[in-house]
Amino acid sequence: MTEGAWNPDQYQRFRAERSKPFFDLLAMVAPCPGGQVADLGCGTGELTTALHRHTGAAGTVGIDNSETMLARSAPYAGGGIRFELAGIATFEPREPLDVVFSNAALHWIRGHRELFARLAGMLKTGGQLAVQVPANHGHPSHTIADEVAREEPFASAMGGYERGVPVEEPEWYAETLDELGFREQSVRLQVYVHHLPSRTEVIEWTRGTLLTDYEKRLSPALFEAYLARYRERLLPLLSEAEPYFYPFKRILMWARK
Ligand SMILES: C[S@@+](CC[C@H](N)C(=O)[O-])C[C@H]1O[C@@H](n2cnc3c(N)ncnc32)[C@H](O)[C@@H]1O
Repeated sequence: MTEGAWNPDQYQRFRAERSKPFFDLLAMVAPCPGGQVADLGCGTGELTTALHRHTGAAGTVGIDNSETMLARSAPYAGGGIRFELAGIATFEPREPLDVVFSNAALHWIRGHRELFARLAGMLKTGGQLAVQVPANHGHPSHTIADEVAREEPFASAMGGYERGVPVEEPEWYAETLDELGFREQSVRLQVYVHHLPSRTEVIEWTRGTLLTDYEKRLSPALFEAYLARYRERLLPLLSEAEPYFYPFKRILMWARK
C-alpha cells in the first residue's frame, strides 16, 4: 500500500507554485456546513486544513498512500480532520460524501473512466466533485523523463515499466462527468506560468513529483545515473534565458451530482 520516493521537502520546494492550483480549485467548491469531505492524495495534509475550513464540514478525511507524506500530517489532525494511509483506487468512505476533492493526485492512477465512476459513487445527491490534474505531459520535462526511462540500463532495471499518461483531454472529462449523471459542471484547461531562476530548476521541479515514479523503481546509484542522463538530454532543449519561463498545463474540474 505505502509508496516510496515521495519526499515532502523536495515537493515543497515549489510550495507557492504548487499551492496556487489548489486554491483555484478550492474556489470552485461551494461550502457544505456540517458535511463530510474527502481529500484524495492529501500529501502532508497541510492544505487539507484549508479545504476543511472552506467547506465548513463536520468531518474531513485526508487519504494518501505515502507514509513519508502522511508522516507530516499529525499537526493538522483534529477538529474534525483525520488522515488515513490508503490508496485512492480502493478507498471506501464510511458514509456518502458531500465533497470529493483531489488536487494533483489522480494523474498517478490509470483508468480514469472507472476511477471517476467510483468517485461519483462516493457522493450524495447534490455532492460535489472537485479535481485538478496536471496535463503537462507534452512538455520536454515530461517527454524526456519517459524517453530516458526507456533507455538502457534503466529500462531493464525497471522491468520495462512504462508510466503511461492516464490524464485525458478536458472535453473527455466534461463528457464523462455528464455521462456519470452530474447535473452541473465546469471543466477548464489552465496554463500556469512559472518563472524559475534557471532551466536547471526544472529538474528540481520534476524530482519532486514525476521523477519519484522512477526513483522508487531504481537503486540510488541507478537513479543518480538516470538523473544525469535526464539532465544531459533535457537542458539543451530548454531556453537559457533567466528566469526560465516554465508553462505548466493543468485541468481543473468541478461537478455537482
Ligand atoms: C503532488 S502530491 C499532492 C498533494 C496535495 N494534494 C497537494 O495539493 O499538495 C500527490 C500526492 O498523491 C499521493 N498519491 C499518488 N497516488 C496515490 C494513490 N494511488 N493513492 C493515494 N495517494 C496517492 C502521493 O503520495 C502524494 O502525496
